[in-house]
Amino acid sequence: MIGSRLHRFFPVRTVKQLLSLYCTNMKMPLPVFCSGTVIKGFGRGSKQLGIPTANYPEDVVARLPTDIPTGVYYGWAKVNSGKVHKMVMSVGWNPFYKNEKKSMETHILHEFEKDFYGSNLSLIMVGFVREERNFNSLDELISAIHADIKEAETQLELPENNQYKDSSFFKQKPTSDSQL
Ligand SMILES: Cc1cc2nc3c(=O)[nH]c(=O)nc-3n(C[C@H](O)[C@H](O)[C@H](O)COP(=O)(O)O)c2cc1C
Repeated sequence: MIGSRLHRFFPVRTVKQLLSLYCTNMKMPLPVFCSGTVIKGFGRGSKQLGIPTANYPEDVVARLPTDIPTGVYYGWAKVNSGKVHKMVMSVGWNPFYKNEKKSMETHILHEFEKDFYGSNLSLIMVGFVREERNFNSLDELISAIHADIKEAETQLELPENNQYKDSSFFKQKPTSDSQL
């Protein structure tokens, strides 16, 4: 909410800088390690946005630390015992769609050959990109997500973020629905 109010008074770039300062000062408790089974969402990610997302069930969302604000995060993700890939994740109520339930929706920066509902998704949330926002059109939402993906690509190359790709967390056998 802070971000959306600031947007009325300052250019987007300044808001981003202010938020990043605010978040650093808040000392967000990152990284956050999550593991759970992928469930079906509303299916809009693939169909309307062209950006497929993997959704966690409610119990995993409920276990997200309460001091993790809603918004967009970047990090690393692994499906079952596959490779570790970059990811971006939206945490919250999707104001554009006015969802009634809080969700954690992960877009993995890799082209999978088929859906992986029912698979285990383990991930590490490493950094914060921005707050969730409402948009005037679907195209604006899509452009914002593409910008998030670009930001994630860049941030995850930095050594302090890249190191998590090799975390021992990803070497553990996935437990079905746990969050560490
Ligand atoms: C990186 C990323 C950023 C997102 N940012 C927003 C946002 O700012 N506002 C919003 O309403 N939804 C946002 N979303 C959520 C998308 O609207 C959502 O993933 C899409 O509706 C698909 O949901 P579904 O899989 O439940 O159908 C974001 C999703 C991703 C992956």
